[in-house]
Amino acid sequence: MGARMSDVDSNELSFDEFDEAVSPRPDEAEFDAIVDEALSRRGFLGGVLGGVLSFGTTSFLMGASVMVPSTALAKGRFAFQAVAANSDDTVTVPKGYTWQTVVKWGDPLWSKGVAFDPETRGTGESQELAFGDNNDGMALFAAPGGKSVMAVNNEYTNRSIMYGARSTKLPEQQDDVRKGKAAHGLSIFEVKQNGGAWRVVKDSTFNRRITADSPMQLTGPAAGHDLLTTDADPTGRQSLGTWNNCGNGRTPWGTYLACEENFNGYFSSNDPAKPISKELRRYGVSMKDWGYGWAKYDARFDISKTPNEPNRAGYVVEVDPLDPKSTPMKRTALGRFKHENAEVVVAESGHVVVYMGDDERGEFLYRYVSEGKYTPGGNTTDLLNKGTLYAAKFNADGKGEWLALTPDTTDLASQAEICIHTRLAASAVKATTMDRPEWVASHPGKAEIYCALTNNKNRGRKPNAGGDATPAGGPNPRKANKYGQIVRWRPAAGDHTAAGFEWDLFVLAGNPVVHTGDGNLKAGSKNVNAGNFFNAPDGLSFDQNGMLWIQTDGKYTNKGDFAGMGNNQMLVGDPETGEIRRFMVGPKECEVTGLTFSLDRRTIFVGIQHPGDKGRGNFPEGGNSVPRSSVIAITREDGAVIG
Ligand code: FEO
Ligand code: CA
Ligand code: CA
Repeated sequence: MGARMSDVDSNELSFDEFDEAVSPRPDEAEFDAIVDEALSRRGFLGGVLGGVLSFGTTSFLMGASVMVPSTALAKGRFAFQAVAANSDDTVTVPKGYTWQTVVKWGDPLWSKGVAFDPETRGTGESQELAFGDNNDGMALFAAPGGKSVMAVNNEYTNRSIMYGARSTKLPEQQDDVRKGKAAHGLSIFEVKQNGGAWRVVKDSTFNRRITADSPMQLTGPAAGHDLLTTDADPTGRQSLGTWNNCGNGRTPWGTYLACEENFNGYFSSNDPAKPISKELRRYGVSMKDWGYGWAKYDARFDISKTPNEPNRAGYVVEVDPLDPKSTPMKRTALGRFKHENAEVVVAESGHVVVYMGDDERGEFLYRYVSEGKYTPGGNTTDLLNKGTLYAAKFNADGKGEWLALTPDTTDLASQAEICIHTRLAASAVKATTMDRPEWVASHPGKAEIYCALTNNKNRGRKPNAGGDATPAGGPNPRKANKYGQIVRWRPAAGDHTAAGFEWDLFVLAGNPVVHTGDGNLKAGSKNVNAGNFFNAPDGLSFDQNGMLWIQTDGKYTNKGDFAGMGNNQMLVGDPETGEIRRFMVGPKECEVTGLTFSLDRRTIFVGIQHPGDKGRGNFPEGGNSVPRSSVIAITREDGAVIG
């Protein structure tokens, strides 16, 4: 395992690829029989994909011919004309819409901070007073006095950009690591619109940075467990910091949920003689980090010295965005895995239900149901501390069920251990291995939930990190899935706490121009066509009209399998008809992720993450400027409500 590690250049690899390079997986037996069954569109579709999603060349062509109607603006449920794919180094929005940059990596949130310096790319001190890097999930909250407060995740950082002023393009000094840790976490700040322009309100009492060093509390079943104790915190209840916060959630009681995703890549070991446990390996913790070098200056990240520290990450963190003095709470009851987002729904019974994806190849989809009930204005302290976790099982017949994770159903000894080693518990109940569950979004008007399954090159080829087989079939129908799909499900009797559900695929992404021919699943479903094709759906959010906003984090080569798709983008889907229309194209090499609306819903805020991260883009300032992750605001020129 260690022999080739020096060959691994994590700058060139995705998180998943890096994790698999340091922990190679065996090829698994072929699943050709099952794949063949899945490839038979007729068989695959029977009873599973109804109505809008009939497949086949004929229906695909019909779909293409009705796309991009010429008089679409402000008519029907799509109040915009589709934009064409492109590979430009800017943001493209529909005719009649306009965009602006609200905040960029390194912009100070306080007047004592200094403006971003492109020569040095900042210091630890300047970064601690500034907007973090690689913004992802976000939400806007109403504060007293009609004020707007934005909470934004700063997921990770690109070393070649952050340390571009260093000859190695890596952290070289202690202050570089301080800067890197401060670029992670959350940025919370007031925003205000003046003469049409959205700006950060510097020095607002709401402004706050939460970083990889901020104190937080571990709560729920795992809090205080032996596996969470360290020399620095023998109570197992006080941890420091949050990092790799990917998607988000928001609760009906006004708090923000930041979801810790690829937490593993920050840990390394200085002692090759100390083996790494199978539990840590399941989460991708290895001897080597991704190159952020945190362990060099902080023993918490050296697992040979602090072996339990990785058990204190991988949670959903609840933050009160309107109280800068509040302590963030790590909610262990929601499980420990590579959390994407946390979609909170209140069931008719009043129970709080949280849907969550674990974004890694062949991992699972989860649901949490609170023990207590939510009442507006009531006590919410334990709603995310006491409850039951479930993992999803999808059957090939279009039905599915939630499998409870308890000491009785798994081989784990206690609920605390289930909350720490959640992946092992879900493997024990034989939940369905998925094609990287990303964001989950709940329809605002009915009990119907959507999850983006972004892609999975290992589908039908390799097991997940726990050795579970990943046969093609059900909601993951394609072997070596390159394009991704969006699965949706309807809880039995419309009850989010019910054990059963029915599922279908809202869309199977694909390339109908490159892959033609009847029965070719790579062409995608009927609602994918030459006017709207895309790959790797990731961010999902509903607007108040029940339209689904889809953001992508995929391949932007515009070649081969991805020819014609251009840069990463944002599309809008209509759950009622299946129609999908492209709303926005992002700049070069970015991922489009994170979405929230202004209080009057006339502005949509969108995240542009890691533009130019391979060195070929300079968004948003253009020229030869340093590319910087940004939050942009999109409005209509006529000032109308967007969503
Ligand atoms: Fe941070 Fe799964 O994307
Ligand atoms: Ca994502
Ligand atoms: Ca992603």
